[in-house]
Amino acid sequence: MNKELIKNADISYRMAEHRAAQYFQSLFQQVQDKSYIDVLTKDFHSWKQNHIHHHPILSFFSRKKKNRNSDGYSNYIRWLDYTGKLERYLDRSISYLYMRDLGKALDMLETQERIRRTVDRLKNNLTTRRKDNSDSFSMAGLYRWAEREGIESAIIWVLDKLKTVSNHIPEGMDPDHAQRKLIKIIAGVIMHVVEEMDENVSSKERKQRLDKAIRLGLSYGLTYPFIDDLLDSNVLSDGEKKQYSTLIRTTLITGSVPELGDWTGKNKDLIQYIHAELREAYEYIKNEQRPETLTSFFEQSYVFFNSQEIDRDRDLTRSDYTNEELFIPVIIKSSSSRLIVRTVISASEDEGFDNRTFYYGIYNQLADDFADMFDDLKAGAVTPYTYYLKYHEQRPDLINPFELYWAVIAHLIHNVYHSDHRTCEVMLDRAINGLKRFKERIGTKKYNEIMDFFSSRNPDFNRLIQQMVVKADDVDFFDKLLRDHMILTLKQERKEQEDFLDTIEYVRNQINSSLSILKTEDVPVNKAIIDAANFSLEGNGKRLRPIITWVVGVNGFGLSQSAIIPLLRSLEYMHTASLIFDDLPSQDDSSTRRGRLTVHKKYNVAVAELTGLYLTQRAIEEQTCLEQFDAKTVLRLIQYSSQVTEKMCQGQAMDLESRGKLLTLEQLNRLSFYKTGIAFEASLIMPAMLAQASEDEMGALRKFAYHAGIAFQIKDDLLDVEGELKRLGKSIGKDAENNNSTFVSILGLAGARKEMWNNYCLAMEALQEMPMNITFLKHLMTYIVNRES
Ligand code: IPE
Ligand code: IPE
Ligand code: MG
Ligand code: MG
Ligand code: MG
Repeated sequence: MNKELIKNADISYRMAEHRAAQYFQSLFQQVQDKSYIDVLTKDFHSWKQNHIHHHPILSFFSRKKKNRNSDGYSNYIRWLDYTGKLERYLDRSISYLYMRDLGKALDMLETQERIRRTVDRLKNNLTTRRKDNSDSFSMAGLYRWAEREGIESAIIWVLDKLKTVSNHIPEGMDPDHAQRKLIKIIAGVIMHVVEEMDENVSSKERKQRLDKAIRLGLSYGLTYPFIDDLLDSNVLSDGEKKQYSTLIRTTLITGSVPELGDWTGKNKDLIQYIHAELREAYEYIKNEQRPETLTSFFEQSYVFFNSQEIDRDRDLTRSDYTNEELFIPVIIKSSSSRLIVRTVISASEDEGFDNRTFYYGIYNQLADDFADMFDDLKAGAVTPYTYYLKYHEQRPDLINPFELYWAVIAHLIHNVYHSDHRTCEVMLDRAINGLKRFKERIGTKKYNEIMDFFSSRNPDFNRLIQQMVVKADDVDFFDKLLRDHMILTLKQERKEQEDFLDTIEYVRNQINSSLSILKTEDVPVNKAIIDAANFSLEGNGKRLRPIITWVVGVNGFGLSQSAIIPLLRSLEYMHTASLIFDDLPSQDDSSTRRGRLTVHKKYNVAVAELTGLYLTQRAIEEQTCLEQFDAKTVLRLIQYSSQVTEKMCQGQAMDLESRGKLLTLEQLNRLSFYKTGIAFEASLIMPAMLAQASEDEMGALRKFAYHAGIAFQIKDDLLDVEGELKRLGKSIGKDAENNNSTFVSILGLAGARKEMWNNYCLAMEALQEMPMNITFLKHLMTYIVNRES
């Protein structure tokens, strides 16, 4: 590696270190002379006027509030609104974010104005949203927002990335955690970009900047799971960690990602994937940088990485670290992680931001390390807290990190933010809230022990703080609520998705075991057709239509499993027949289906045609075996089913006729509904008919089915271009070869994706009207748009 470059990187680190050392000295001084105690005691006395209420009614409310369940996100917002606390709640929360994430000073009029506007917007959003009952964190909600901003492509891109990243998070690391962190970082970058835009930015410009913010956010965010968390975890062996660190270091010093070369270690596949992702991300950030900011981007990245390495390399069994060795890397890493965000978006230099952010970092880090001290201790990680817990007796010279933490708060309020009362308010809110949360988590007894331990030198001050922890109200923050809610939602979604996959696997097995057509006792006149039907049925079809019927029928409407078996068969027979016809030389002329030859290839065209016809008839015959239902209902079902087949024939004819034509979106939707959507409708409506569902229920199901069916066909069109033959089990590129009019040929790949997500949203919106449990159908939609086969 170039010596000059190494030297430069080293110089930037030394400079950061020098600055951090000065900061540390001044904090150290304040701990030594305990000057922060008087300052904060005064602050708390005026602060508590607004936080300690003696009114019995209010204390009744606050007691009630404590009982809220952990998933009370919208209830809690509603409660705040009801008691008139929402505005102040949002104000302190947004103010805090402006300080922490945007490096703003709250005493500036412009910042106050911006905060006020953000609070208004958010309040409006939160209080109107709850009326329409929609889930504020749904994919559909997010996509609709992207539509309003005109950044659908970026959102589709980022969702896809989040999905593949979380699928690649190795065992031993937490995929939910990785996702949450990424989302948080992307949101942070978006916030920065929005903040940098003034009112008169054109909507086109705004669109471009937001688009870029999302891509930059993800690109930068990837370094968290893939560098920091990966190196923190035990996934890589020591040797692998060394190779990997060298790789990153080389990248940051030279400014370009080296080839991976030979990898020694068992995580080669993982590293190959990460290497490719990080390279893409790095190139993206680099290309988007303005030349003026490129150097500072590299410098900051290096400083950040190096401080983390130093931090990580420390060993809890060593008893000889100095206070400087403990705190200086913490100051550097916590400030550079925030400073870097502005360089990622190539923002112009802002000395005020730089200073505030530099001083602010350690405050956050110490708050986090405090909350995590027991986990860190267990993991053997060195943080100021774990180190102090372990060595305070033998090392009386060690600084008590809890004292330093308060010194930082006093320093920030009075020296960095000039004793501004808003800053004081927010910082103390946050500090008391942190303690309350910690106490709630570890329990009162242990909490008191910890407090006595860390505050032994300052019992009076401790008493004051503990009084606040017990008595003070209105100290909670929206970002914490959001965080808890997000963790819960992600976990719940993951669990639901696992259940969904288990269900479809279970039902698929049930169905597979009852599909085959038995040769009846009478010697069949011709064996070929039944063989061909079974040949096609035995392929690896997804069985989606009968699976839907099973879940809706059995779980949704309480029908008996065994009673609807003929219906399940019938649906799969109809569908399989449609595929046999569709593959014929006169139609799509395909040679592979369900991982095997198509029927006309395996047998011949005549057999295929006859097998298709045989299966459609057989489907009706099955329906006549629905003996446990009343005859009139079954007759109506047969009538409906016949109409479905008629429509599918018309849909296929439309499809073939439209080859080479430029259809409108409306024509395309109509065609897709006839050829594909109607079968999905049937799989939902038929069990509803058997269960004598109401017209309202049927209406909601039809509406859902319409959009689900179109989304399914769009994905099918996309897979015809982007899919893999091996996974898909059917020939790829057929549509282009046949000059078919598809969503991709008409709208292009990006346009088709947007239309798919639009239909996804419409289907999800239709679900909101459904009176029954919608969990399965919700995950069915996710499955449809994400499937690879
Ligand atoms: C393919 O349907 C035909 C379309 C309606 C696009 P599937 O993708 O459900 O096919 P199998 O049953 O899994 O083979
Ligand atoms: C066919 O659509 C729809 C049917 C009902 C058979 P496609 O022609 O796109 O289906 P694939 O891609 O061959 O499965
Ligand atoms: Mg076709
Ligand atoms: Mg086809
Ligand atoms: Mg297709």
